[in-house]
Amino acid sequence: METVQTAPRTDPGAPPLPAARGPLSAAVLTALHRPAPALLSPPPLDDPSDPWGEDVQLALYVCYELHYRGFAGVDDAWEWSPPLLALRGRLERAFLAALRDEVGEPPPLADVLADLLVEPPDGDGPSRHLLTAGTRQQAREYLAHRSLYHLKEADPQMWAVPRLPNPAKAALVAVQYDEYGAGRPERAHAELFAGMMADFGLDPAYGAYLDAVPAPALAVVNTMSLFGLHRSLRAALVGQFAAVEITSPPGAARLAAAFERLGASPRGTLFYREHVLADAVHEQLVRHTVVDPLLTRPSDCPAPEIAFGALAYARAEDRLADHLLAAWRSGTGSLRTPLPPEEPEEPGRRAERAEGARR
Ligand SMILES: [Fe+2]
Ligand SMILES: [Fe+2]
Repeated sequence: METVQTAPRTDPGAPPLPAARGPLSAAVLTALHRPAPALLSPPPLDDPSDPWGEDVQLALYVCYELHYRGFAGVDDAWEWSPPLLALRGRLERAFLAALRDEVGEPPPLADVLADLLVEPPDGDGPSRHLLTAGTRQQAREYLAHRSLYHLKEADPQMWAVPRLPNPAKAALVAVQYDEYGAGRPERAHAELFAGMMADFGLDPAYGAYLDAVPAPALAVVNTMSLFGLHRSLRAALVGQFAAVEITSPPGAARLAAAFERLGASPRGTLFYREHVLADAVHEQLVRHTVVDPLLTRPSDCPAPEIAFGALAYARAEDRLADHLLAAWRSGTGSLRTPLPPEEPEEPGRRAERAEGARR
């Protein structure tokens, strides 16, 4: 078989490869250090024993990242390496089975979407914790977890575009246009998130915290990539997209208030303030201009699969929330390695913040 030879990438935006977390991720990472298409040597394991665990989630994350920005020094040709895709397929089958198992038989889609629209009055998720009792360090950890998605925000859902029929396709692109800044690159949501990270003394480089981020946060992003990279899961991707847009505004409002309380400048809350407004519109658009037209073509996007996608994403988010709250309530950090302390504030910076807040 002829393979396309490419030079190792020199894109300065690509992050370094992370460290392995077990035999599967070690097999993937060892291979990627070699030129493609070197033969991969997957370990002699039948099925991954814990699809939610650190080893599987990191191995999957690394495989998926080859379809986004890649890694520094890694040959781009690995993206379509048959042995690597075969190993990825084993991991995906195990993870997808775990997601289906967790969701079970989905309720009717209308009920799923209606439930997502209702905020539990007694909810106690991470955004509520950060608003009422969180520390600045916990806010910084939260941003590090979220950076793996938000620095490529909207990218996984772009895989849906060529796979959907019109008018759902056109409606999806209208929402995505906003996510990418509506013609103003500096307003792209990923850029706003990077600005917020810088405001909290974090490194906004793409993938900078991959080694520090544990499996529950990787699983949230892997769920999107799994749905995005398989045409057979396009309905689940639509469901995931709908779940994000529907649930975002109240959480974003709490996080904006929480970060302001924890000393953020206007730049440090802009991402969440933007989402309070934008996602109130996006939620309507996704439900009525993306999902509703698809329901008239159930052979393209069956409603139970849309419901599955929304619920699978919600379960992955629940697991991350449980992880964050358990760590914070026990007084430990929620990352695999603690964040370096924040640089002390420069003289005059507080005055600048106050000035910025007035503008
Ligand atoms: Fe967004
Ligand atoms: Fe949105």
